[in-house]
Amino acid sequence: MTENTTPVTPSRELTDFADLVSLCKRRGFIFPSSEIYGGIGSCWDYGPLGVELKLNIKNSWWRAMTDRDDIEGLDASILMHPRTWEASGHVEGFVDPLVDCKTCKGRFRADKLEHANCGKKSSLRPGQHGECQLTEPRQFNLMFKTFMGPLEESSSVVYLRPETAQGIFVNFENVQQTARQKIPFGIAQIGKAFRNEITPGNFIFRTREFEQMEMQYFVKPGTDMEWFEKWKEVRVNWHLGNGLRRSKLRFHPHGPTELAHYARAAFDVEYEFPIGWQEIEGIHNRSDFDLRRHQEFSGKKCEYFDEAAKEKYLPFVIETSVGCDRALLAVLCDAYRVEGERTVLKLHPKLAPYKVAVFPLMKKPELLELTDKVYADMKANFRATYDEGGTIGKRYRRQDEIGTPFCITVDYDGLTDQTVTVRERDGMTQERVAIGNLTRYIQDKMAAWKSE
Ligand code: GAP
Repeated sequence: MTENTTPVTPSRELTDFADLVSLCKRRGFIFPSSEIYGGIGSCWDYGPLGVELKLNIKNSWWRAMTDRDDIEGLDASILMHPRTWEASGHVEGFVDPLVDCKTCKGRFRADKLEHANCGKKSSLRPGQHGECQLTEPRQFNLMFKTFMGPLEESSSVVYLRPETAQGIFVNFENVQQTARQKIPFGIAQIGKAFRNEITPGNFIFRTREFEQMEMQYFVKPGTDMEWFEKWKEVRVNWHLGNGLRRSKLRFHPHGPTELAHYARAAFDVEYEFPIGWQEIEGIHNRSDFDLRRHQEFSGKKCEYFDEAAKEKYLPFVIETSVGCDRALLAVLCDAYRVEGERTVLKLHPKLAPYKVAVFPLMKKPELLELTDKVYADMKANFRATYDEGGTIGKRYRRQDEIGTPFCITVDYDGLTDQTVTVRERDGMTQERVAIGNLTRYIQDKMAAWKSE
């Protein structure tokens, strides 16, 4: 029997990041970094639930990539030979135009002034206030520099990688040969990247330290645009598979002035955040730009030999590059709802930090014994949590707010008929389920889940 004990109430979506920032802090998803020292601009720490959610997103990506026979995994180091970044074009070309305001001491991207606020009057753009004194734009390289070894001199400068992709390019031959892959094939990697952004902000949307999930797919020149189209389709389906609503996703093709220095064609997958449509993933046709440049700068051949056709060539590369933190932000924004008294995260069950919460109706020894058994069964199959504090209604609200899709309550009837109540997060329906069937019941419900 399924019953809905709560009247249907109108649902409100997220309209302001501030509400999400507050939930994330309150419930242990995301904290400001070094908070006891007053925080540090644009750095965030993932708490117990945030780290679970992030791992689930990474797993969803990693499985989608490496379960395929034509994609291999890699974990390259963050620090690379400095010549890497000369070859990649980042030393010369990874720059943003920067302007300072001598009056308010604000620092802005010269090409994004229409999205920035004047430090004197926030309703105006920088330069619009009578007292604004903007400097001439100067080029600012976004790579973080540090020194390798004890001497702080120019010969020991190394960079924190601004994208994970270069670790893949320099390992192209290592992976191709050891994994005995034939073109077309891809290399996938998840890892930290660093960019000294001029204007970070909007919570974890733009930060200076973030994680990327990148895949470079090496193809025969001439087949590149065909693969580019295929990967667009595959990648948007991945976001849909994480529960994002189709109406909130769109493609944005790059015009000639938007293309990165390495790209011959590019599409952004955009999500409609409370701040508007923004990129969550970039899909690029990088041609043979990177392998050609590494060949030139290192003096080592990066060509592929096609045994069957007896021909040598530099492969073209189709890149899919998604920010893990940005994908997570989109997932949280999409899941966030306020329905009457409750705030609920309608996360895809596969991404939810806990799949199941188990409660005893009351803290009575006769109920706790059976509850412990149910909890142990659930933990053997799912990531589960236990809660015995406060009323059942309060416990539901707590789980709603962290996105737990199923709450199981053990009550007195269960002692005689070995059943429990399973309450489902999204519709708030309740059903009596035999304890012996619980695992199967939850697995089936999770598999059938659809976003609204
Ligand atoms: N290798 C290609 C590359 O890095 P990109 O468009 O500059 O391309 C790819 O970055 C993705 O990385 C973006 O779509 C975004 O999700 C994420 N990303 C880039 N800069 C970021 C930042 N400052 N903070 C958080 N995520 C960022």
